[in-house]
Order: sequence, then C-alpha cells, then structure tokens
Amino acid sequence: MKIVLSNKSKIENVDFENLQFGKIFTDHLFVCKYSNNSWNDGEIMPYEDFLISPSARVFHYGQAIFEGMKCYRSDKDSLILFRPDENFKRFNKSSSRMAIPEIPEKIFFDGLTELLRIDKDWVKKGDGNALYVRPFVFASEPSINASEAIEYTFMIICCPAKSYYGNQKIKVKIEEKYSRAAKGGVGYAKAAGNYAAQFYPTAIAKEEGYQQIIWTDSNNHKSIEEAGTMNLFFRIGEKLITSPTSDSILDGITRKSIIKLAKDLNIDVEERIITVDELLEAQDSGSLKEIFGTGTAVVILPIKTFGYQNNDFNLPDLDNPWSLELKKKLTDIQYDKSSEYEDWKVKIN
Ligand SMILES: Cc1ncc(COP(=O)(O)O)c(C=O)c1O
Repeated sequence: MKIVLSNKSKIENVDFENLQFGKIFTDHLFVCKYSNNSWNDGEIMPYEDFLISPSARVFHYGQAIFEGMKCYRSDKDSLILFRPDENFKRFNKSSSRMAIPEIPEKIFFDGLTELLRIDKDWVKKGDGNALYVRPFVFASEPSINASEAIEYTFMIICCPAKSYYGNQKIKVKIEEKYSRAAKGGVGYAKAAGNYAAQFYPTAIAKEEGYQQIIWTDSNNHKSIEEAGTMNLFFRIGEKLITSPTSDSILDGITRKSIIKLAKDLNIDVEERIITVDELLEAQDSGSLKEIFGTGTAVVILPIKTFGYQNNDFNLPDLDNPWSLELKKKLTDIQYDKSSEYEDWKVKIN
C-alpha cells in the first residue's frame, strides 16, 4: 500500500477537552478506487480536499453508504476497535443494497489498521474519549445517466470524539406523519439518503422541543422502529423489549451487544414488535420504567420524556437503572477494563 505522510501534524492545535463532534479530522485518510471491475490497493495520504467531477453520480442519484465505529485507548495504552468485523459485514450489506460493489475484507482491514497506526496519537485515554472511524463509499464516476455507476471511491476518515450527549437524558417525539423507512426499502442499510430524509422531520421535532424522533412503521405508524441513529429498548416491568430488526430497521451492533449483556445479567429480553398502544398502556399502569437508545455514537442514551399526539409522558427517575448498569458493562469491555468478550475487541499494534 502506498503511504504518503503529512508534513506537519495538526494535533497540537486541537482542544481535546472541547471537541465539537465531527468537525476535526486526523492527519491522514485511506482512499481506494474502483474501476474496470476491481478495487485498487488503496493508499494512505494526508487528509485534504480532493477534486471530483460535478457530474459524479453520487451528487445526482445518492449512491453512497457509510459506517461508524470507534477505536478506544485502554488504560494500558492499547488501541481497541469494538467488533469491526460487524461493521465490515454491514458495510457490504449496505453496498449490495445500493448496487455498489462490495469491498474486499483485506483492503478494508489493511487500510483501517494502517490508518489507525499512523494516527494513533489522536486516540485519547479516558472515559468517553474515542476516535470515531468513518468508512464510506460513493459513486465517483462522472455521468448523470440514471443507473448504477461503474467507478467508486472508498475512503476512511477519523475524528476524535467525546461521548455524544454526556450523561444527559433526552426528550423524543413519536412520529406519526413522516417515515424513515418502508418495507422493501433501504432502512436496514446505512445509505446516506436515509439520513438526509430524517433531517426535515427532525428539525420540526426540534422546534417543538424534542431532540430526536422515534420512528414508527410506515404503514400505519403503530409499531415502534428506532430513533435517530439509535436502536431502542423498553423496560416494562422486569422485561427488556426491543423491536426485531427488519428491512426497515438498522441492525445495530450496540443493540446486539446489549441484548447479550442483558441476558448475562439474567434480564428477560424479548425481541418482538412493540406498539405505541402497548407503550401508552404501560405508561398508564406505571409498568414502563425505562426507555433507552443504543448506538456507537451514544453507547446508551436514556430517554426522560416521550411525546405523542401533543402530550408528553415522563419516565421515572430510578436509583439503579438498567441503562447505567448495561452501559458500564459495555464500556468496560470497550476500554478493556473487563476481560469479558475478548472476541469483541480487536487490538491494533
Ligand atoms: C439508523 C440507525 N439505527 C441504529 C444505529 C445504531 O447502530 P450501531 O449500534 O451499530 O452504531 C445507527 C448507528 O449506526 C443508525 O444510524
């Protein structure tokens, strides 16, 4: 792999205590191109702007997908990626759905590990600190013919991150008008357009005082799907319920990890459809104890209030919520403080 290093690192100018998520990037990126039916070996180069044709198909037809994962630094100074094999599988699953050629595993992991080795000083120690890794691929072929491209660009860029919402709880709105994804659509893929489609309804929810939307099914808005960039968990009585993944729900890696950890704690986990009516009944009877979202960016984010049909419903303040217990178990694994699930950790040497 060709490697061109930057002349000067930007790292001394970065205030790691006051990071705004997604604004500052490390010194290098990995780039790999697809043409004539194959991917080249890729190269590492300084992070900088690049030239692209105004007719590149991605601008016109949105053929683009991405992933999001984190690299952590343990107290013993090792760098750890959390379940990157799962991100890799989902990357290619998303690509296939968008008619983008799959990336070979070797190119993905060689590029990723070399990039992290080169930019390792950007991974800071301490709870909540991580390097957010963003692999993405887009149709770079210059042509506005409305069909899939024959040339693509795959890149990996990284940005330092602190935990997204800190220890806050958020207020969410159950959506009844707009939909994020439909049956047979692309909701299970991390397709760029899925996120663009959320911005307008989310902006309306924000004007109404909510931070995110709980998406419901696109047929009749009765069953709960997911929220923003999180899967959702509901503690009703002593059960933990989460919607089954489907073609309209992203198969979250945090979600599947939390299901495993909750079962280890002997929590009764149910993966089944949960309806808005069931939620309202549980709220009414007092059996709804917790709602939380799970995702790479937030890890676990508790919800304090949900809004439905212009009414707000508050969740109780528990002394020992499952969300906190599960978050601790998961972050202890991610920062290598616990020796559980060694196979979820990929160490970068
Ligand atoms: C729509 C959506 N749902 C759920 C998730 C959570 O997935 P993960 O836990 O793999 O980050 C994400 C974030 O990647 C997302 O974008």
